[in-house]
Amino acid sequence: MTQQFLDEAKDELQKSLVKKGHPFRYFTLATVGLDKMARLRTVVLRKITQDLKLIFYTDRRSKKIIHITENSKVSLLFYHPKLMLQLKIEGKARIVSDEDVLKTYWNGIQPNSRKDYITQQAPGSSLKSPDTVEYLNEGNHFCIVEIEPFKIEYLKLKRPNHLRVRFSKDDDKWDGEFLVP
Ligand SMILES: Cc1cc2nc3c(=O)[nH]c(=O)nc-3n(C[C@H](O)[C@H](O)[C@H](O)COP(=O)(O)O)c2cc1C
Repeated sequence: MTQQFLDEAKDELQKSLVKKGHPFRYFTLATVGLDKMARLRTVVLRKITQDLKLIFYTDRRSKKIIHITENSKVSLLFYHPKLMLQLKIEGKARIVSDEDVLKTYWNGIQPNSRKDYITQQAPGSSLKSPDTVEYLNEGNHFCIVEIEPFKIEYLKLKRPNHLRVRFSKDDDKWDGEFLVP
């Protein structure tokens, strides 16, 4: 009975990759490192695999990568205002290290967008002025992160009743249960 809501969630996530302006294209990623302080930021959803792994790109030197190395458990938040649909996803993040995979993805990035991964100084370093960012002539700090969800919470605000469903992954199978919204 809950399967249709998981299908809808998957469907909207997939749509965001092809439909311009879809709000699921961006999500909030939360990490908690050894300092036990939750840190949030917006990232771009780049890909979803058939088994629902979610992929985003970043700079290997960024704080989120330090956090993920310290604690691979992450939370993701998606919100679709028109549908009043919120997805909260919990999962395990993995930093993709396969050089061939990295190269393939890197080759698919527009030259102008590559600048995000080739600053000489690490992201978050202080700058005298925003115009003084220097870029590498060779090499990059491009990094791919893949998140494997183990919990998905679907919440839709609607009349007469809101709808809240929790999906948990057990032995590669998703089980869903309705919750009080
Ligand atoms: C619309 C938008 C999209 C963004 N997409 C990404 C992204 O895909 N990857 C990324 O690393 N940072 C992205 N950022 C920047 C992050 O939100 C964040 O500021 C940065 O990665 C540093 O985060 P950290 O220090 O916690 O690692 C984006 C920011 C905005 C406003």
